[in-house]
Amino acid sequence: MTTPNHPRCDRLWRNARLATCVGEGLGLVEDGIVAACDGRITYAGPASGAPAFEADESIDCEGRWITPGLIDCHTHLVHAGDRAREFEMRLDGATYEEIARAGGGIRSTMAATRAASEAELVGSALRRLDALIAEGATTVEVKSGYGLTLDDELKMLRAARALGETRRVRVRTTFLGAHALPPEWAGDPDGYVDLVCDTMIPAVAGAGLADAVDAFCEGIGFTAAQTERVFAAATAQGLPVKLHAEQLSNLHGAALAARYGALSADHLEYLDSDGVAAMAVSGTVATLLPGAYYFVRETMLPPIAALREAGVPIALATDCNPGTSPLTSLLLVMNMGATLFRLTVTECVRGVTVNAARALGLQDEVGTLEAGKACDLAIWDVGHPSELVYRMGFNPLHARIWSGL
Ligand code: NIG
Ligand code: FE
Repeated sequence: MTTPNHPRCDRLWRNARLATCVGEGLGLVEDGIVAACDGRITYAGPASGAPAFEADESIDCEGRWITPGLIDCHTHLVHAGDRAREFEMRLDGATYEEIARAGGGIRSTMAATRAASEAELVGSALRRLDALIAEGATTVEVKSGYGLTLDDELKMLRAARALGETRRVRVRTTFLGAHALPPEWAGDPDGYVDLVCDTMIPAVAGAGLADAVDAFCEGIGFTAAQTERVFAAATAQGLPVKLHAEQLSNLHGAALAARYGALSADHLEYLDSDGVAAMAVSGTVATLLPGAYYFVRETMLPPIAALREAGVPIALATDCNPGTSPLTSLLLVMNMGATLFRLTVTECVRGVTVNAARALGLQDEVGTLEAGKACDLAIWDVGHPSELVYRMGFNPLHARIWSGL
């Protein structure tokens, strides 16, 4: 019987230590409990001072640590084929840009993706999704951008949505039609951008298949002017924008994204101080992708100190894709964030929880252990949250809870 002093809950996790990620730091709580009702957190905090819950099921966590379920806020999880051969070419000295300009790169994955059925795309992406889930991921963003025709982009987005119906995970989809110029539009990038803006974005929005719109603003992608047209078309459809910005050069994409109130600007190795300032004003999240930095053997570091100083929220993600980051581990991403980018443990953990939620516009729904949010938890067999960042290739996940179960 529920009384004010004995509120009922479906499940109660007790004897736990919490990294709630509420506030500025990790929001650590010794001897904490989490209560959930109907898939939502109703209480997360110290056991002392908590109401005496009447729980249908009470779980003794034996002192384990609970964090919010992990969030991968930038992936290209849906794609066909691999680029292992190009990896070998790069080992022989070719650069990512040379391979792309010779017709490899994104366009070779495009050809494989166009040839694949929707079911095949779901099947191959599930293997990668399962690897993320095995390490406690509960929310994953998935981009299109390897179809580059209306039908093939729709196919990719439907496959991405299907992932969220096949596994107990929250999937957010992003339309990335302006990822690369498909060969049939060679010589006419503005014509292709017309197609993206006038046909693809309205169709994708009308079908309810995208939660956001992204573009690749780069010498081997699209100019800032073309990117701005994509942003205008997305905004007209009520879709928030994000951007692959300043990955290989500085086209001032992040500042452009900030002007459009972008959820995030991603990569950012070549970001300058004007870009940092613009992102700080608009509240745009800096999504750093250390897997891509590592895999293309980039040497230019993103301006971490300036981002920090300006108070720009920093997220970390896998960028899982066949060309620049064939990575399916958010734990390794955190380790790389610390070792390659010198982020603190707190920044790394917040980067795959609260700030990743914000990069998806999901800050009211997930990313912290807080009453009212979805009960997405990762329960870890570690002595302290720093162990989540410290290890390489070891998975200390004890249990993953999605929507309370
Ligand atoms: O995030 N930069 C553009 N897009 C991907 C690479 C995609 C690919 O090479 O297939 C990225 O790095
Ligand atoms: Fe990417």
